[in-house]
Amino acid sequence: MISLNIETSCDETAVAIIEDGRNILSNVVSTQIDIHKQYGGVVPEIASREHILNISYVVDKALNEAKISLDDLDYIGVTYGPGLVGALLVGVSYAKSLAYALNIPIVPTNHIEGHIAANYITYLDLEPPFLALVVSGGHSHIIKVNDYTSFEVLGKTRDDAVGEAFDKVARVLGLPYPGGPQVSKLAECGDATKYKLPKTKFENYDFSFSGIKTAVINLAHKEGEKLIKEDLAASFENTVCEELVSTTIRVMKENNISKVVLAGGVSANRVLRKKLMEEANKNGYKAYIPDLKYCTDNAAMIGCAAYYNYISGKYYNIKDKLDLNAIANLKVGD
Ligand code: KG4
Ligand code: ZN
Repeated sequence: MISLNIETSCDETAVAIIEDGRNILSNVVSTQIDIHKQYGGVVPEIASREHILNISYVVDKALNEAKISLDDLDYIGVTYGPGLVGALLVGVSYAKSLAYALNIPIVPTNHIEGHIAANYITYLDLEPPFLALVVSGGHSHIIKVNDYTSFEVLGKTRDDAVGEAFDKVARVLGLPYPGGPQVSKLAECGDATKYKLPKTKFENYDFSFSGIKTAVINLAHKEGEKLIKEDLAASFENTVCEELVSTTIRVMKENNISKVVLAGGVSANRVLRKKLMEEANKNGYKAYIPDLKYCTDNAAMIGCAAYYNYISGKYYNIKDKLDLNAIANLKVGD
C-alpha cells in the first residue's frame, strides 16, 4: 500500500511517501521559519501563500526521492485540522484535486494524531494501548490512546500551550522565533535553581502555563540589567518539564497505564526527554520518545496516522465528497 501524504497546518510545507504505514520512502519538509522570523511569529496569510508557492515542488521532490510515480499511489493522506485554516486549505485543496484526478481515496487526518504516530515510525514494534503526552506549539494534551484510531483526552492546558509559552518567554529574553529550541540552548549553561517560579496544580489532569509565563515576564522586567538570562531560561524550562512529567506519571499511576509516548514539537526538548525517561524508569514504566526528525511538523507522521485511518475504514472516494473542508479547531478523535 503506497500513499502520498500532505501536511500544511502551520509553517512547514511537508510531503511524505509511505509504504504500509511505517516504511518511510521519502519525507520532505520545506520550512518557512526564516520568513516568519522577521515578524517574531507565524503570519497566517504569509504561511498560506508560501504553501501555495511550495506545494507542487515539495510533492515532486517527495515522489522523486521515493522513486514513485503518481500511478503507483493507492490513496492520499492529508492533514485537515487542527491548524491555521488558510494554511490547511492549501494542503486539503491540493490533496482533493490529486485524489480526484487519480481516482483514488482520500484520508483526512488529524494533526495531533499525526504527532502521536511519530512514535510508530520511530519504534517499529510499538502498539497501542498507551498514554500520550502531546506538547506542541498549539496544543498540550494528555491522551489515552486505546487503539490506533481511538483516543480519549484525559487532560489539557487551560490556557497557553507549552510551545506557545516557550515562544513567549523567548521573546521576553530577546531570542528569535521559534523560541523553544533557543530557550533550551540558552538554558544549557544556566542554573535551574536560581529563580523560583510558580507551579500550577489541578485536581484533575489539566495544565496551565500562563501563570509561569507571566512570572517570567515580570521577573525579567523587575531584574532589568541584573537578570541572568541563562538562569531564567533554565528555571523556566525545568519547572515546566517537571510539571508535565509529574502530571503524566500521576495519570499513569491512577489509571494503571504502563507505557507512555511523547509527541509534538516540544518533544524535541532535551530536558523533557530526559526527565520523562528517568521518571518512567524509576516507576517501572516504559517511555517512548520520537526520533528528533519526527518531533516537529512533518508529513511522515501524518502518513502513518493516515494509514491506520485508511485500514480502519476512515476514508472515502473524493468524487463522493467534494465538500471536504479544513477544520481549524478539529478535536482529537473527531
Ligand atoms: O508540533 P510543532 O512543530 O507545531 C505545532 O503543531 O504547533 O511545535 C512547534 C513548537 C514551537 O512552539 C517550538 O518553539 C517548540 O515546538 N519547540 C521546542 C523545541 N523544539 C521545538 N520547545 C522547547 N524545546 C525544544 N527543543
Ligand atoms: Zn505540530
